[in-house]
Amino acid sequence: MSIYEQVDKYAERFLIGEDDGLGHAIENCTQNGLPPIRVSAMQGKFIMMQAKLIGARRILEVGTLGGYSTIWLARALSHNGELISCECSSDFAQVARSNVEYAKVAPKVDIRVGAALETISRLDDIPFDFVFIDADKSNSPNYLAESVKRTRKGAMIVIDNTIQDARSFLDPNNMTPNVLGNRQVYKLLQEYEARGELIATHQQIANEKGTDAFVLAVRV
Ligand code: DHB
Ligand code: MG
Repeated sequence: MSIYEQVDKYAERFLIGEDDGLGHAIENCTQNGLPPIRVSAMQGKFIMMQAKLIGARRILEVGTLGGYSTIWLARALSHNGELISCECSSDFAQVARSNVEYAKVAPKVDIRVGAALETISRLDDIPFDFVFIDADKSNSPNYLAESVKRTRKGAMIVIDNTIQDARSFLDPNNMTPNVLGNRQVYKLLQEYEARGELIATHQQIANEKGTDAFVLAVRV
């Protein structure tokens, strides 16, 4: 276990402890062969707290995978809150639905299968209070643009993996779709902030893969 994982595990023992719903989700994802990609427990708790802090009642998630972050976010909602989560794989969505059910948050969660941009285009006009973007990084700028259009003032937008791999991100010769998408996120944030539509920052995460980050933006 890397030193980063050891530190997180230490904190998790005190600040999270045994969690049946989340533990089951991780196990069930492994059993069903889903890629072992998810926010850390501490990051999951962090976005849950952010959603709670702003009193979120309507949350949009882009990228469900196995529903791990979905469970965290759903816990920020009161019983009449709503979380719409977009997932392009129907197989992943099926696993996520059973995980959400097991974690007892299913009544608040609506997992929609399909390309997220298409799912989003078919949504009604009720604004969201909180958006979590954690899907194909090449499309992160498009998801960000949709999020700005579909959130109320004071809403929060979180984007995961905006650096992903620091060396690739910083290498000017690297033009892979994910890297270009992530660089475009920062450019867009600059433009939105200049127009007075967003205030944004990011938090770096050190892990065994190197350096990643997630963006926090507030609609103003
Ligand atoms: C990776 C991590 C993520 O959180 C994600 O959404 C996609 C990929 C990764 O480490 O490769
Ligand atoms: Mg992610």
